[in-house]
Amino acid sequence: MQDLNKLWKIFKDKFTDTGLTKGIFSAPGRVNLIGEHTDYNDGFVLPMAIEKEIVMLGQLRNDRRVRVFDFGYNTEIGFSLDKLIPLRKNTWANYLMGVVDEIQKAEYILQGANLIFKSNIPRKAGLSSSAALEVVTALAIAELNSLKIEPVKMARLCQQAENNFVGVACGIMDQYVSCLGQKNYVLFIDCRSNNYEPVPFKDHNYQIVICNSKIQRSLVNSEYNKRREECKIATKFFKHKLNLEIRALRDITIDEYKKYQGQLPEVIARRAKHVISENYRVQTGVEALREGNFLAFGQLMIESHQSLKDDYEVSCAELDLLVDLALKQEGVLGARMTGAGFGGCTVNLLERDYVDTFKKSIKNEYKEITGINPDIYVTRPTEGAKVLELR
Ligand code: GLA
Repeated sequence: MQDLNKLWKIFKDKFTDTGLTKGIFSAPGRVNLIGEHTDYNDGFVLPMAIEKEIVMLGQLRNDRRVRVFDFGYNTEIGFSLDKLIPLRKNTWANYLMGVVDEIQKAEYILQGANLIFKSNIPRKAGLSSSAALEVVTALAIAELNSLKIEPVKMARLCQQAENNFVGVACGIMDQYVSCLGQKNYVLFIDCRSNNYEPVPFKDHNYQIVICNSKIQRSLVNSEYNKRREECKIATKFFKHKLNLEIRALRDITIDEYKKYQGQLPEVIARRAKHVISENYRVQTGVEALREGNFLAFGQLMIESHQSLKDDYEVSCAELDLLVDLALKQEGVLGARMTGAGFGGCTVNLLERDYVDTFKKSIKNEYKEITGINPDIYVTRPTEGAKVLELR
């Protein structure tokens, strides 16, 4: 937890007290254990909220202005609730403005606010710092204005903010788990029905460890949108072939894929293969976790990485290296890239006793080959967005 007293002090230095409702809110980042690039195909995912978060302090204003101070970048922006246009500079603010825009489009009436926020989620590392910013903004704005927006709806509004205002056609996974994460549980989310089942992840000898490659590539968004288009082409093909009520790759079985794959353009076939097989891996993985079969779960993580690397082509040399290095360490059951890809992090499943040696070896070996110091985070599944104070 971050130092809230210090944050209040900064808040008071920045803004004059309006005497209106004020509060503190937080939203976590996430790591996805398995189910990558499946959410926008109406498929299955298995993420958990991590022990890294954004904390936001806010107070209502008497007018229609919003002022926001980003503690990390030490920058402030301001805008009117009546004039929401994406910024070219300070683009971090677009996540926030997009949320305000979506809340207003949903016909909620808002008042202006003063806000500051501080994050300890590494940016552009594939741990959903942007989703956390969207979610903490949505929660702060909703609570300060006494609006009751239930969590799945909030996640949807945040996803739409990113789709419409930021221009990334992301699925719902990141915002969903940032809203609904649970302590000691990973969430098995069905991204079609938007229902979820919590799967326990505690009281055993295994630990989730995240390795940050420190690689950030600007092509993430354009490649991401391209993958989405490729999935649409595949869906259209299967709909035509099978003449069924097919709405997404979620509706295709592995046997159907095998039967028709030869008729698809080669690249599209590989994209479809990843999504269809990944959905299967998530469902099998959930069974394995429920039975306490961590060995089987780890194996599925390894297969997932292979598929993301070869068929979906969203990995990169540094992520592949982190996975290879991890799989050579003692006590590692599974390793794979996590999130959109092209850099960012890997997620690893380890026997708890080996965590310290793992950290040391990976740091040394990755540094030796790439010259980059990786960051390593050990985390348990934690709670989703919450109100820490409201008065
Ligand atoms: C990003 C998106 C998610 C999801 C993942 C890939 O994190 O925001 O919606 O598509 O990539 O699984």
